[in-house]
Amino acid sequence: MKTSAQSPFEIGVVGLGVMGSNLALNLVEHGFPVIGLDRNVPKADAFRETAHRLRADIAADGTTEIAAFISKLRRPRVVLLLLPAGPAVDTMIEQLLPHLQRQDILIDGGNSHFSDTDRRMMQLAKSCVQFVGMGISGGESGARHGPSLMPGGSKAAWERMRPMLEAIAARVGNDPCVARLGRNAAGHYVKMVHNGIEYGLMQLIAESYDLMKRGLGLTPEKMQAVFAEWARGEMSGFLIEITADILTRRDPENGGYLVDKILDAARQKGTGMWTSQEAMAQQVPVPVIDAAVSMRGLSDYKEQRVEASRRFGDTERRNDVNPDVLLAHLGRALYGAMILTYAQGLHLLHRGGRERHYGIPLGDVARVWRGGCIIRAKLLEDLRAAYARNPKLDNPIFDETLAAHLTACADGLRQMVQFAARAGVPAPGFMAALSYHDAWRSAVLPANLIQAQRDYFGAHKVERVDRPGVYHIAWTDDDKGNENSH
Ligand code: 6PG
Repeated sequence: MKTSAQSPFEIGVVGLGVMGSNLALNLVEHGFPVIGLDRNVPKADAFRETAHRLRADIAADGTTEIAAFISKLRRPRVVLLLLPAGPAVDTMIEQLLPHLQRQDILIDGGNSHFSDTDRRMMQLAKSCVQFVGMGISGGESGARHGPSLMPGGSKAAWERMRPMLEAIAARVGNDPCVARLGRNAAGHYVKMVHNGIEYGLMQLIAESYDLMKRGLGLTPEKMQAVFAEWARGEMSGFLIEITADILTRRDPENGGYLVDKILDAARQKGTGMWTSQEAMAQQVPVPVIDAAVSMRGLSDYKEQRVEASRRFGDTERRNDVNPDVLLAHLGRALYGAMILTYAQGLHLLHRGGRERHYGIPLGDVARVWRGGCIIRAKLLEDLRAAYARNPKLDNPIFDETLAAHLTACADGLRQMVQFAARAGVPAPGFMAALSYHDAWRSAVLPANLIQAQRDYFGAHKVERVDRPGVYHIAWTDDDKGNENSH
């Protein structure tokens, strides 16, 4: 790596918390001189020392001083922010901006809302500083050993960052899990939808666990074996694998299963909710993701749930079913519902990305998600192939291969939804997935009646199936004479 004595560093990393320090070490390991900035002295020192131990031949430093940090970066500078999303990012931009120059690149690698990223890009464009929103997935270990990286922004910024990003990203075979995923805030938009899918998959897996545990009364060992088997088959992927692992863990203090000691109230930072909000705004249905967001919310009402379980009676296990038959259905149901969850997210990326002029290459999204990220799974290879066949694919359910998988899973999904309803085990993710599939399969939906109601009470007019134009129908005597058409 060519460096000069005055400006020896190739990239600066701001925020040496878990993600920042691990990404910085990943960069050093791959031969890029890094300077870190953190207002916390021990964090800056720890990075410098760990980096030197990792590769004494690569320049690495940690500082608390913005001016020193900036002055040591090769120009045009590349600065990567790893800060909590929200005001902390704006504050840091304000502090850095007076030190930056034309063509410098500022990358926000946090989970920022795409609208903030679009706003910041416009703000920084006035100073000719290139701002890049980049989604990063894979948690602590991904950051250190190979994350999935989702940058948006200009082509020029991408070319400047590319060697570094390709070096540190996860790989599938020889293919690095990073690509420029579109203009402006496209990178953060893709990461938001990634997290929406993540919420949906986690909810479906949790429902599967609940159906096995409360619905079928399976032992922890049996449930672990089921997830481990799924992790070896077509459903294999990171979230299924970690679930199998989680279910093996015992509490070191009293030997019970650790998962049973964890409070059943899920927290959330908001990216799943953003996906649902954006989907509503774009009128793209993502019901599995919506159900997942709602269920995280409902899980938090712990005390009221305990109270309601007394009032209404809790779910009881059913003994009138054959667990092996049900488990086979559950495997199909989960696979089908997972396909539908990816489909919902990718449909949103297609429609929302087009509406917002992000120019998101969906084939690259599927490619980048194959490794390093939380939603990586074997299925992504089928999705990648689907977009290779048809880069303009609106919704993956229309791809031949995925449609064939869905057809094979449909009965299992229906059987499981019936079982959940009879057993009283809440399965809104599965139910939403089934209804979504059934709704798409419906050449005729009851929206004709909704149209009639709207026209009845609000004269909103209807379209007819037997002739063109829009019509108000005189539904009541008072309305007679007000019929009209356009
Ligand atoms: C990832 C994760 C990561 C983080 C989520 C958790 O891709 O690495 O999605 O971004 O784990 O922010 O989100 P919640 O707190 O909303 O569950």
